[in-house]
Amino acid sequence: MSDSQWKQYFDQKAATHGASVKSSDYFDDTSFFVQRDHIHRWLGELKGKQILDAGCGVGAFSEPWVKDNTVYGVDFSAKSLEFAASRGLKTLNGDLGALPFANGMFDVVVCIGVIQLIPEVEPIIAELARVTKPGGVLLVQTLHSGSVQRKLLGLFERTKKFDRMYSMTELAQLFTRLGFPTVDFLKQYHPLRVVTQGAGRNSLTDLFCTSFAIRGRKGNG
Ligand SMILES: C[S@@+](CC[C@H](N)C(=O)[O-])C[C@H]1O[C@@H](n2cnc3c(N)ncnc32)[C@H](O)[C@@H]1O
Repeated sequence: MSDSQWKQYFDQKAATHGASVKSSDYFDDTSFFVQRDHIHRWLGELKGKQILDAGCGVGAFSEPWVKDNTVYGVDFSAKSLEFAASRGLKTLNGDLGALPFANGMFDVVVCIGVIQLIPEVEPIIAELARVTKPGGVLLVQTLHSGSVQRKLLGLFERTKKFDRMYSMTELAQLFTRLGFPTVDFLKQYHPLRVVTQGAGRNSLTDLFCTSFAIRGRKGNG
């Protein structure tokens, strides 16, 4: 789908489901909260930080950070942003390809479940990298192209809605090119609630990894 179709799609989801995480199109509420809890634990306690939630939707992912941090949410769905604002995010309606922020403004930038929707990933991640401060953390979560479950589902799925998926290697290479010298991964294996974490890739278990988050710390150079 094109950007304007996605915008309409998520406006409609928010109009129908309101603040519920159903607006963000997760498989179900449980899979959203399992993922959110694991990623929040993985990032550790955040206090007094400037955080950007890029493609924040209704803001449920970063809501727990609002109390102790300044959390900005950018999205092109105006209807979703109404709910993100009511969760306490400082919202901006815009495209992730052109963020209205100075270089190095954020300690932590997260982009959850977004890049599978966009045609060209590199300019978006480059923009997220630009606004991450040296020493800050960039975390991107998306669908894993190597997953056996997804390949099987793809045989039956008609809409091909999420036809962009990623390998860990391609995102690791992109992070490195953009100034994040080391990365690590948090891997999920839907429908199991299991996650694993680590710096490496494993050719056997990765076959069953349905989605992953990649985290990099920006170098000072
Ligand atoms: C699947 S939802 C995920 C929302 C949220 N990150 C979460 O995990 O609950 C994807 C979100 O990305 C937004 N989005 C997709 N492409 C975008 C772009 N180029 N610029 C701004 N927002 C975008 C959509 O409007 C939608 O709210």
